[in-house]
Amino acid sequence: MKIAIASDHGGFLYKEKIKAYLTEVGIEFKDFGPSDENSVDYPDYAKPVAESVANGTYDRGILVCGTGIGMSIAANKVDGIRCALVSDVFTAEVTRQHNNSNVLALGQRVIGEGLMLLIVKTWLNSEFEGGRHQNRIDKISAIESCNG
Ligand code: RB5
Repeated sequence: MKIAIASDHGGFLYKEKIKAYLTEVGIEFKDFGPSDENSVDYPDYAKPVAESVANGTYDRGILVCGTGIGMSIAANKVDGIRCALVSDVFTAEVTRQHNNSNVLALGQRVIGEGLMLLIVKTWLNSEFEGGRHQNRIDKISAIESCNG
């Protein structure tokens, strides 16, 4: 699995922690930035990650900002992206099983580091169940097509 990861200044520290975890478990990733905690605009980082997942260059994406909200809103503007903002382990598992979420958004100012890493681990290791859930995802895709 290849992961695209990015943050803004508000999520920079967690991005670095997640990179250390991915390295430890041998998961390939690309860091789309930023390279320090200077103030940046989260859409500038959500867009390339979302596009690289949507076009298949990367299998999944992880985005971190202060709340995770801005990143998730921006990522979900890209067709084919199902970005889930997650703050608990149950949702991390179910959003993979039911929504086949392909981008995970996290809020560094919202959850502690231990929980954040458990969410990342759970989300990476949970699989889409297909079946009736695929029908629902197809309906989401149909909404994208309506946007022309
Ligand atoms: C940056 O101050 C903050 O607005 C951003 O990290 C994020 O929380 C936006 O949703």
